[in-house]
Formats: sequence, C-alpha cells, structure tokens
Amino acid sequence: MKLNRKDIMNALETISVSGEGKNMVESGAVQNIMTFGDEVVVDLLLTTPALHIKKRAEVDVMKAIHEHVHQKAKVKVNIKVQAPEKTEIKGKSIPGIRNIVAVASGKGGVGKSTVTANLAVSLAKMGFKVGLLDADIYGPSMPMMFDVQTEKPLSVNIDGKSKMKPIENHGVKLLSIGFFTQPNQAVIWRGPMAAKALNQMIFDAAWGELDFLLVDLPPGTGDIHLSIMQSLPLTGAVVVSTPQNVALADARKGVAMFQQETINVPVLGIIENMAYFTPEELPDNKYYIFGREGAKMLAEDLNVPFLGQIPLVQSIREAGDIGHPAALQEGTPLSKAFEVLTQNVVQETVNRNKSLPPTEAIKITTMAGCSAVNK
Ligand SMILES: Nc1ncnc2c1ncn2[C@@H]1O[C@H](COP(=O)(O)OP(=O)(O)O)[C@@H](O)[C@H]1O
Ligand SMILES: [Mg+2]
Repeated sequence: MKLNRKDIMNALETISVSGEGKNMVESGAVQNIMTFGDEVVVDLLLTTPALHIKKRAEVDVMKAIHEHVHQKAKVKVNIKVQAPEKTEIKGKSIPGIRNIVAVASGKGGVGKSTVTANLAVSLAKMGFKVGLLDADIYGPSMPMMFDVQTEKPLSVNIDGKSKMKPIENHGVKLLSIGFFTQPNQAVIWRGPMAAKALNQMIFDAAWGELDFLLVDLPPGTGDIHLSIMQSLPLTGAVVVSTPQNVALADARKGVAMFQQETINVPVLGIIENMAYFTPEELPDNKYYIFGREGAKMLAEDLNVPFLGQIPLVQSIREAGDIGHPAALQEGTPLSKAFEVLTQNVVQETVNRNKSLPPTEAIKITTMAGCSAVNK
C-alpha cells in the first residue's frame, strides 16, 4: 500500500467542523500531512483544549482516511491547541487579560445574565481561564447565579499595591457591582459613580491571567454603556435577544451602538435565547412561544454571525436561581446547546483577532458622541 497526501487531503475535506459550515481543511485545522508507506501522520491545530473535541477530531480523521483512502492505513494524529490569539491591548492596558467580551441586550429580561453565566462556566469547562464582571448597575444578578451572595471580595497585596480579589466559583472568577451593596438596599448608581466602581473592578482587581473576561452589561444603550466602553478595550460584543419583535428592535439598537463609528466594537454575533419552549419530558416537542428564529433572521439581516439558540427550559431558570448554571451538568441536551454556543463564541473571537487590530478603549470627548447612542 502506498498512501499519498492528495488522497488524504480529499478524505479530510469530507469532515465537517461543527458550527462553522466549513470542512476540516477549509477551517485551517490541518497543519501538515506526512506519509511513509502505509503510515500517515496528520498534524492538527485546534482552538479549544476540550478533551472531547480533541478526541472527536482524532476519530474523525481516522475514520475518513480508513473510509476514503485505505482501510488498513496506519493513522497517527498529532493535536496542538492554540488558544484564541492574544489581543494586544493598547491604551489603558490590563496585563494578563487576553479577550474582553461584553454581553449586551437591548431589552431587559431576555436572559442576558443567564446566558452570560452559562457561557462563563462552559468556557471554564473547555479549559479556558475565565473572569466575569457583572456590570449591571440596575440589577446585578451574578452573585445569585454563582451562589456567592454572602461573599465579599478581599483585598490582596500584589507588588505593593492592594487589589480586589475576585470571588471564585464553578471555575469562574467573579466581581459584581452587587458585592458592594446590601441585597435589600436600593442603590441608585449614577453614571459617574458607577463608572468609578467599575473602573476599580477592572483595573484594581487581581484577575490574574485570563483567556476571557466576560462583561455582563446593563440592558439598553445608554450612558453607562459609554462609560464602560470608554474604560475597557473590548475585543468584541455579543448581543442576546429573544425571537420576539419588541426584543429584536432593541437588539438591533444594541448592535448599532457597538457598530457606531465612534465606538466601533466588533460584534461577534447574536444569541437567540428562549428560542422555543421544550418540556423536559418531551424534548422533541418545540413550541415557538416568542416567534420562530427572529434573532437568527436579525443576524442575517445585519450581516453578523448567528451564534446559537438556547431553548426556554424550566431547569435553566431553576439552575440560575440556586446558583448552579445549567451548563455545568454534563451530557444533557441543554449543556450541548451551551457548548455549541460557546464554541461559536470562541471561533468568532479567533476570527476577529485574525482579521482586526486590537480594540482600543474608546475616547469620546464630545457630547455629540454621547447623545448619538442615547437613542
Ligand atoms: N433559556 C431560559 N429558560 C428558562 N428560563 C430562562 C432562560 N433564560 C433566562 N431565564 C430566566 O428568565 C429570567 C430573566 O433572565 P435574566 O438572565 O436575569 O435576564 P436579563 O439579564 O436579560 O435581565 C430569570 O429568571 C432567568 O432564570
Ligand atoms: Mg441581568
């Protein structure tokens, strides 16, 4: 038996890569192919360190070569993992943080925080170092969603400076504006006050090395968003919406805010939450309570990536309420949905870092810049 590279390449082209609509060769994962008689060595470069992804890639390669080239070929697969490329942060830099991704929604109550919490734990499950900054001054919900309501961040000394130490749970480092208020106390954060508190949580915190810092933004497109974007060099933003028209209209505004010339934060994509209702005992039954694929169509219309659908399921709400995000459970259809979503977010981050220079913190000095995003 004599194997040749071209046949192997053709065989690898039959493997589709989930979430990308590309085959393994097109996705750039195949780095090298070497053949020696009946032996073939395939070098792959993957962007996620998750074990099951590596395993699946290996099995897919073996199967494709055995099916399309030769049943008895001896196949060896070498896998290298490359985390999303480092975004060099200009302006006010945050050493050690590679990618800062804001999660936004036009409208409140669409599940932005729920999605963010689940994204964070899914990323951590995949092996990434993850931080989560809860910047929702109107309703910080991360302390509850991570079951750390009673914790208070301690101060640690790093190189002679005291820094706030994030609270850690489920593999995610967390700071929330909620840690600095009493649960039953009504605190009205005014713009400048909120900006100051957030600045401290960003720059005076001991985040350490992070692959991703997710930022749960408040709903809407107002002043506070400007303050946050002025202080943070965002890698990109994702926008969460339900398929419902009122939510979609606001999601459109959210995308427009990031894409505005003076702000110019890349939109990594749109997530459809509560895409359909599924009773847990009848997982094949889908009821499109809020309309069907509205957010998907919005993504197409705005020409931004569609990142995935999360169904409306009672256990997502329950898991959120007890501080144990649903994506932590292994092997359920739900954790699968969050996995697909998370892989797409990682992929879009990688794509963005390949094609665009790092985002600088936005400098908005004119009032015109401000009023433009205030609806
Ligand atoms: N996919 C879902 N299935 C079931 N309940 C959900 C889902 N997404 C969010 N929820 C619930 O809806 C409510 C609002 O979600 P939340 O994440 O707090 O929204 P937001 O941050 O956009 O205001 C919460 O009670 C949450 O548990
Ligand atoms: Mg919220």
